[in-house]
Amino acid sequence: MEVVIQPDAAAIARLVADEVQSLLAARPDAVLGLATGSSPLAVYDELVRRYEAGALSLARVRAFMLDEYVGLPDDHPERYRNVIEREFAGRVDLPAGAVQGPDGNAEDLPAACAAYEAAIAAAGGVDLQLLGIGSDGHIAFNEPGSSLASRTRIKTLTSQTRRDNARFFDGDVEAVPRHCLTQGLATIMSARHLVLVATGAGKAEAVHHLVEGPVSAMWPATIMQHHPRATVLVDDAAASRLQLAGYYREVFAGKPSWQGL
Ligand code: F6R
Repeated sequence: MEVVIQPDAAAIARLVADEVQSLLAARPDAVLGLATGSSPLAVYDELVRRYEAGALSLARVRAFMLDEYVGLPDDHPERYRNVIEREFAGRVDLPAGAVQGPDGNAEDLPAACAAYEAAIAAAGGVDLQLLGIGSDGHIAFNEPGSSLASRTRIKTLTSQTRRDNARFFDGDVEAVPRHCLTQGLATIMSARHLVLVATGAGKAEAVHHLVEGPVSAMWPATIMQHHPRATVLVDDAAASRLQLAGYYREVFAGKPSWQGL
């Protein structure tokens, strides 16, 4: 696992956008994994800037979302499919239909989960998966106790996650759905490169467990320690509980610039 400590979200976004840009230069039809929430927003803004400057195109890209709430009306602004359209897909040249997500309004939710797994496999898997981390250590919506071998399925959100996400629902915890469909930890682990972004002191404990704790279903993101290519980008506040922060900085400072993340 590579840990990259940067001063702020904008510096992190530039590094992640560099990585996406070089992936697309090598493979214009790459498959991207998209996260929602606050963490990837600066990355999306940076990618949009580069698209508008003509530096990259997503015209041949396909993308898969990590998760979706169950039961939000199709036109609800916080439905993740709508969020990703607003924050990213609708601002670049991703063709209509290029972004897929699990269908949280399907009649048969387990069948929708299986269909989603099949769609990711049919696309050849995800090349680069963007991730945020919950303050309880979840990635996608794999809450503590999730099977480390899980695939896309229905999950119940913890009250902490519902409280954390209430800010997107005018502060009303009761408006945050209780259930979601989420890629499982094994689904995420199948992506070829995992890129996790975390900023702010509220993520410091989860980041500490992710990078330096034992692998455990209690902190689901720790499964990433088993991934051969996982990059964790954090700001100084999110890095504040890392015991080896000095070493991570030294390693990154000594890395040749051509090497990328
Ligand atoms: C969103 C997702 C979640 C978020 C996590 C952090 O698709 O899968 O795991 O990444 O809840 O959320 P933010 O970035 O809003 O702090």
